Amino acid sequence: MKSVNCCTSPTLRVPLKVLWRRALPTGSSIGLAALILQSALPVQAAWRAPVRARHGMVASTNRIASQVGVDILKRGGNAVDAAVAVAFALAVTYPAAGNLGGGGFMMIRRADGQAVAIDYREIAPAKASRTMYIGADGKLIEGEGSSTVGYRAAGVPGTVAGMDLALRKYGSGKLKWADVIEPARKLARNGFTVSHGLQRSLRNNRDLLGRYSESRRIFLRNGKLWKEGEILRQSELAATLARLQKNGPREFYQGQTARLIADDMKAHNGLMSLDDLKNYRAKERVPVRGTYRGHTVLSMPPPSSGGVALIEMLNILEGYDMKVLHPFSAARYHRMLEAMRRAFADRAEWMADPDFVKVPTSGLIQKSYAARWREGISLEQAARSADIKAGTPVGAEAMQTTHFSLVDAAGNAVSNTYTLNGGFGSGVTARGTGVLFNNEMDDFTSQPGTPNRYGLIQSERNAVAPRKRPLSAMTPTFVLRSDGKLWFAVGSPGGPTIINTLLQIITNVVDYDMDLQAAIDAPRVHHQWLPDEIAHEPLGLSKETQSTLIAMGHTFAKTARVIGDAHGVMIDPATGMRLGAADARNEGAAVGY
Ligand code: DON
Repeated sequence: MKSVNCCTSPTLRVPLKVLWRRALPTGSSIGLAALILQSALPVQAAWRAPVRARHGMVASTNRIASQVGVDILKRGGNAVDAAVAVAFALAVTYPAAGNLGGGGFMMIRRADGQAVAIDYREIAPAKASRTMYIGADGKLIEGEGSSTVGYRAAGVPGTVAGMDLALRKYGSGKLKWADVIEPARKLARNGFTVSHGLQRSLRNNRDLLGRYSESRRIFLRNGKLWKEGEILRQSELAATLARLQKNGPREFYQGQTARLIADDMKAHNGLMSLDDLKNYRAKERVPVRGTYRGHTVLSMPPPSSGGVALIEMLNILEGYDMKVLHPFSAARYHRMLEAMRRAFADRAEWMADPDFVKVPTSGLIQKSYAARWREGISLEQAARSADIKAGTPVGAEAMQTTHFSLVDAAGNAVSNTYTLNGGFGSGVTARGTGVLFNNEMDDFTSQPGTPNRYGLIQSERNAVAPRKRPLSAMTPTFVLRSDGKLWFAVGSPGGPTIINTLLQIITNVVDYDMDLQAAIDAPRVHHQWLPDEIAHEPLGLSKETQSTLIAMGHTFAKTARVIGDAHGVMIDPATGMRLGAADARNEGAAVGY
């Protein structure tokens, strides 16, 4: 366990004052340089401890789903069995992002050290084309027919195929497909208690859900909005889950469910056909691997940009002595922001589906490439994003996604992020299935130079093409200890902010000795190259830190917003205890046994 210091936050081994003193240049007058280092009023004085358990731990955004995972572990299931059950449960209890009609990435690390990335990202339907979201006036289509709303916004879902692949190859074999679906089916049939968060998110999304009759009926009760404490039952979804149990994953891609989906798509001018569903395949990929101060980082490779950009930023930061900087100081933020700006410029230029374009992954994650970026970083002055162009590597809020992390008694671990993209995706529930559809097509470059819903500018490489996967930022990750053993699993939703959330959590742990809960709860910032501004959280940065960064040339977004909803599990190396850490920003819960 980390040592507890008497006079400061229990999670920081070094008293804040000492960090400050170390950070001050000796004998300096208070010029900008000194101010940059000093301006670090701690914004969080109290910290929560992680949840502790001896055997297994599940951390997700929803307590019911976390409990489903723990129940599977207690029945002898391994981390993958439990992860699949959690994913199905979230599809019922967290409909904004938990899904059957979306896709995602599951990182698995077995206790024997074997690591694999399961890519169950959605793909574009065969009839999709690069200009499909551009209207006759040359502008991006809005509303129905756009990449964000309605039937044409949906990519072919990968979740059911991904869960099947994970369970078949990496499950314990003790629990069958039908067993891991059963808790979800029961929750859909018998209902569960609507939480404050669910009430709020349904209300916030009533315009989107109200456009489509099935979504309106199920999620808005035809206008009589669901209230906290009521029981939400989803009978069509329960029936779909029962058919999946009986007929296996083929049911979703070739069975009655597939026919219901294809019919509904056809009736509403959608592009997704029965053939598209039949041809969907989840894929195994090799995790992208980097190191940060001796710790191995295993993360999601393309078609996620997350792992590559995360490692690129960690490589840039490794060249600085970060430990001497206060964790909430302008000096630390400045170095991180400059790293973010550059990695996101590379993301925009280079990254896309590796099955369609060549992505220079190995060049982007080289330490020497990061060193070249570092040469151009001033420690006193912010760069302008307009002056930053992608490098040449060798080889070269109505939003929701959700992440959960698990570790079982044997030390197998899962780090899974999946999504419908926007909260409740495209808003469409396919008639007769209870399945909400994603709007993942918006992660493609609909029109080069025009930002997508996350304000991201992306390149031609990520243009829409039949059966292509849109570029993602989802970054399910493992960090290993220097002896090669698993240290923690973590990930987050948040579109492009995901990558920077991971950067901050990992460096909070490695550079500042925070435990995982403190590292997750600490305030976050985000910079994505363009727009050239810092996204920041309410009460996140002190006024002094902000003023110092502004004096250095940084620009802050006008309004603050909450960034991410990260959930992780750490193994305490001294005792082997599982330490669960759910983000305070939502309704998450870590449950162990
Ligand atoms: O794959 C991606 O990068 C996005 N579709 C993720 C969306 C997301 O995280 C929304 N969450 N809050």
